[in-house]
Amino acid sequence: MLIKRPKGTQDILPSVVNKWKAVEETVSQAAEQFGFREIRTPVFEETGLYVRSVGDTSDVVTKEMYTVSSKGDDTFTLRPEGTAGVIRAMLENGIMNEGFPRKVYYIIPCYRHEKPQAGRYREFRQFGVEMAGSASPYADAEIILLAATVLDGCGLENVELHLNSIGCPECREKYRSALREYFEPHKDELCPTCNERLGKNPMRLLDCKSPICKEIAKDAPIITDYLCDGCREHFEKLRKILDGYEIKYILDPKIVRGLDYYTRTVFEFISNGIGAQGTVCGGGRYDGLISELGGQPTPALGFGMGLERLILTMESEGCEFPPAKTPDLYIAPMGERAQEKAALLCDAVRRAGYAAEFDIIGRGLKPQMRYADKIKAKFVCVLGDNELDSGEAKLKNMRTGDEKAFKLEEFIGEFHNLLIEELFGTGLGDALADSIGDLPANTVPPETNGRN
Ligand code: HAM
Repeated sequence: MLIKRPKGTQDILPSVVNKWKAVEETVSQAAEQFGFREIRTPVFEETGLYVRSVGDTSDVVTKEMYTVSSKGDDTFTLRPEGTAGVIRAMLENGIMNEGFPRKVYYIIPCYRHEKPQAGRYREFRQFGVEMAGSASPYADAEIILLAATVLDGCGLENVELHLNSIGCPECREKYRSALREYFEPHKDELCPTCNERLGKNPMRLLDCKSPICKEIAKDAPIITDYLCDGCREHFEKLRKILDGYEIKYILDPKIVRGLDYYTRTVFEFISNGIGAQGTVCGGGRYDGLISELGGQPTPALGFGMGLERLILTMESEGCEFPPAKTPDLYIAPMGERAQEKAALLCDAVRRAGYAAEFDIIGRGLKPQMRYADKIKAKFVCVLGDNELDSGEAKLKNMRTGDEKAFKLEEFIGEFHNLLIEELFGTGLGDALADSIGDLPANTVPPETNGRN
């Protein structure tokens, strides 16, 4: 029996990898444009890191971690999110001392033992950014603008920004008491999870999905009425900056986020087109986390964007993805002598920077042409004894069916010009060839093409 992939994971097959590459390219380009540099950290960390940062009342820590114990007493957890490991790495490697603001981004797989459904997986990929060292609302606006730029760059038009401030530990304590007071009379009607959370983390009751809890929560006090002066001013200034950028947002006091480290600004970008798991991106400020993890008190913030959800949303909005790359050339040899020549030609074509393949099975012409069609080769060159003896062959444009005869010793130059014409239009081949001196710098005709 075939072994199947673990529940909640996905195989990203060659036929869809172009979508992933395009998205990864878009997100990294935008991050770099905003001054973020890539960071790569281990897939697993000491379990204590997540307990201390993500928080011991969060679903992630209480229910969803993939934890293994290694030889000895240490326990390690597959990373459920990016922030904790990245801040750990920044502290451990002295990156915080290199001047503020420090800005990093990452594209990582994450692991959470959740109940799989559309848009929710046990292994998923996140694009995330973290910025340390600025308490200014301009930093919050930069982060939100970066997320909006990415979504825009992906062609999305129907993703809404939901914005809230959950204040600092001081204003939040007053708010928590108000929430407890509000929910206490309904205690027996709440779902078991909310009932349990009421004591330790009553704010999470606000994002419970159970219809009864939702109904009860409808008239609950809202955090923005409890913000202290500092937090209120921060939030007002942020809103003003976002208005200046003409970024539309919905003030949403129900956005409280599932991870415990947040302070002040929290936000989510939500798509309505992909079902219940519509939060494509979530983030906010976490001014207390760096000191919690042993660093100097340093304000910080960031976001995580689920790449599966991003691609699902792009598909639901009919966004275009760049087509998968196809080979520039397929050489179809007939017979052993031709195969030897095909191998060398193919090598020369690749060294000139193009994607080329030739038959390495020893098939007849028909199956070779079928294969060339299947891999969507742009040009095909058939090589047999006739071509080798006469020193002339034909290059066939597979889109138009046009064939052009050429001297084998001028193969690379001919191919180069034909390909440029195919990609950029007639006439451009010659013009480009004139302006760049015909051949790529490293192109040498195959006969003299020896490696040093
Ligand atoms: P998060 O809200 O837990 O935040 O995750 C961020 C995003 O990851 C979500 O909005 C969603 O798109 C995606 N995501 C989360 N869980 C799953 C899942 N099971 N399957 C598919 N996609 C999922 C964080 O992880 C924070 N570290 C974000 C952050 C960075 N805050 C500040 N800096």
